[in-house]
Amino acid sequence: MENVNLVELTVEAGIAFVTISRPKALNALSTAVMAELEERLDAIENDPEVQVVIVTGAGDKSFVAGADIVEMKDKTVMEGREFSAFGNRVFSRLANLRQPTIAAVNGFALGGGCELALACDIRIGAENAVFGQPEVGLGIIPGFGGTQRLSRLVGLGYAKEMIFTGRTVKAEEAKTIGLLNRVVTSEALRDEAVKMAQKIQKNAPFAVEFSKEVINLGYEMEINAALKLEAEQFGSLFSTEDQTQGMEAFVAKQKATFNRK
Ligand code: CAA
Repeated sequence: MENVNLVELTVEAGIAFVTISRPKALNALSTAVMAELEERLDAIENDPEVQVVIVTGAGDKSFVAGADIVEMKDKTVMEGREFSAFGNRVFSRLANLRQPTIAAVNGFALGGGCELALACDIRIGAENAVFGQPEVGLGIIPGFGGTQRLSRLVGLGYAKEMIFTGRTVKAEEAKTIGLLNRVVTSEALRDEAVKMAQKIQKNAPFAVEFSKEVINLGYEMEINAALKLEAEQFGSLFSTEDQTQGMEAFVAKQKATFNRK
């Protein structure tokens, strides 16, 4: 039985740091890791102090090197389906977390690791970031959302190339195809992720949360229904003190301070 704390959670100044921590297996996602990740996501969702989440991997070599192949190798059809459904549940929970999420990709992001990064809202990569969906080389397909979220982010052509060939994509190419928002040195990765989190934190929290919700829900909807949702949530924000504060501060040529009210 592995130790607890396969997924570390610390909260500093409103930013939750989630670190997949299983370095001996390059942070591979076992069932135990995924179960802990789900618990941490519950804690984050229910913590009013947390405004932004940064997801990373322990060490400087690997973000996450995929689902645990040793654990998967003897699975039956039903167990395979259950494992994929479980992974999809946890990553959808991450994708739909009320707070914005930033993946700080420090090395290998393969298979389930690429899918973990895809379930975050924004991806910043170190120069040694390497993405890939090598599942077909193992006789399976991506099972934690890769067949769906990769094409939604980089388009069908690139997603199919990556998944059919299993080839790896390094940081600069990942940026070119939209898989990474930016590339920084390994040393600067954490600071850059924190800087981006702080920029988000300066804005009205409900407005940030609502924008995430409307973008995510609207992306799966017919455009007119999605625009109706936008109008509804746009209107809802006029009930918040943060909207009053934000607009009054603008008119008075002052800086707004938001209180999540
Ligand atoms: N599962 C289990 N163990 C893993 C692992 C994984 N996905 N990735 C790495 N490890 C383990 C290795 O077995 C090794 O353990 P031992 O020291 O006990 O032998 C340890 O981590 C270090 O790995 P390597 O010695 O292989 O390190 P390397 O630097 O030579 O290679 C690597 C690094 C290229 C990432 C290589 O480890 C690798 O190819 N890993 C597997 C990547 C992969 O195929 N991921 C997809 C998994 S399937 C999936 O994720 C399905 C899904 O969609 C849900």
